[in-house]
Amino acid sequence: MQQIEAIKKEALDAIQAAGDATALEAVRVKYISRKGLIPDLMKHLKDIPKEEKRAYGQQVNDLKDAFQEAFDARKAELESAGGATPAGAFDVTLPGQWRGLGSKHPITQLTDRAIEIFSTLGFTVADGPDIETVFNNFDALNHPPGHPARDVKDTFYLDDPNLLLRTHTSPVQVRYMLSHPPPIRIIAPGRCYRRDTPDATHSANFHQIEGLYVDKKVSLADLKGDLSHFAREAMGPDTKIRFRPHFFPFTEPSVEVDFSCHVCHGKGCRVCKNSGWIEIAGAGMVDPNVFTAVGYDPGEVTGYAFGMGIERIAMILFGITDIRHLYENDVRYLSQF
Ligand code: PHE
Repeated sequence: MQQIEAIKKEALDAIQAAGDATALEAVRVKYISRKGLIPDLMKHLKDIPKEEKRAYGQQVNDLKDAFQEAFDARKAELESAGGATPAGAFDVTLPGQWRGLGSKHPITQLTDRAIEIFSTLGFTVADGPDIETVFNNFDALNHPPGHPARDVKDTFYLDDPNLLLRTHTSPVQVRYMLSHPPPIRIIAPGRCYRRDTPDATHSANFHQIEGLYVDKKVSLADLKGDLSHFAREAMGPDTKIRFRPHFFPFTEPSVEVDFSCHVCHGKGCRVCKNSGWIEIAGAGMVDPNVFTAVGYDPGEVTGYAFGMGIERIAMILFGITDIRHLYENDVRYLSQF
């Protein structure tokens, strides 16, 4: 009986010491396989005095049960720690495979940045569809019949002659004013379409950010102040802006807005074609006819509007020399930004 106790202690210690499935299997074979030490004990039963047979048999059975219980527990423990994988088959210290992270497209980065900057000035984001009505894209924006921008050479019309792919984000102004009373302060980033032949600076689709601020006494000075703020935040603290007189059907007066060249700071270089300035936006004071078209009283409110080309800003800021690089979706190129 002392021998049984000794085997029990030894067997249970061996189970605990088994460090993996292979070692544990060796312990099982040694103790309870058909020729193992524990079945072997039963073979001695015939040599045990009759009065002790019962107790002896009981003790061997207890040993068997204790062994099985400890064995099952250890097996479960090893499996949950490292699976049933034999040691050495999987080297956890090997470096993993690098999977490149995606990055935001330069157009998206700039759009996000513009939204951030204008939201500090109280602007919220408005949205409109790429497929627009001729009314929203042209009529309500004071384009007279026969205006050259309406020509099929410049604009993509759909089968329904009242529908087109918007040529600018300005129809969002119309949509927003038709559905909201003044005062309003919105920006509207989005995709636009024109029948341009693609080259280094033209693309048949491109992006703009529209801005519209309407209230009782909005002036051209507000426009200049807000765009100056945007220029400094987006392009650098010493960026200046200038207005040049221009014409748009839906603003009066109208201006083109230049930013001082962020590469040469106004001295003249290749990026700004030696002028020191880069054209970034069209803008102006909302024409009273537009207010009338959307049901606002031009005697009550004034407003400014602007439309900036996002690709232009991206190309200048990131030093992109060909607009087509922005649409080829070559991740090797885009992941630089
Ligand atoms: N929609 C004009 C364009 O695409 C830009 C613009 C917007 C001009 C708002 C004035 C006011 O060229």
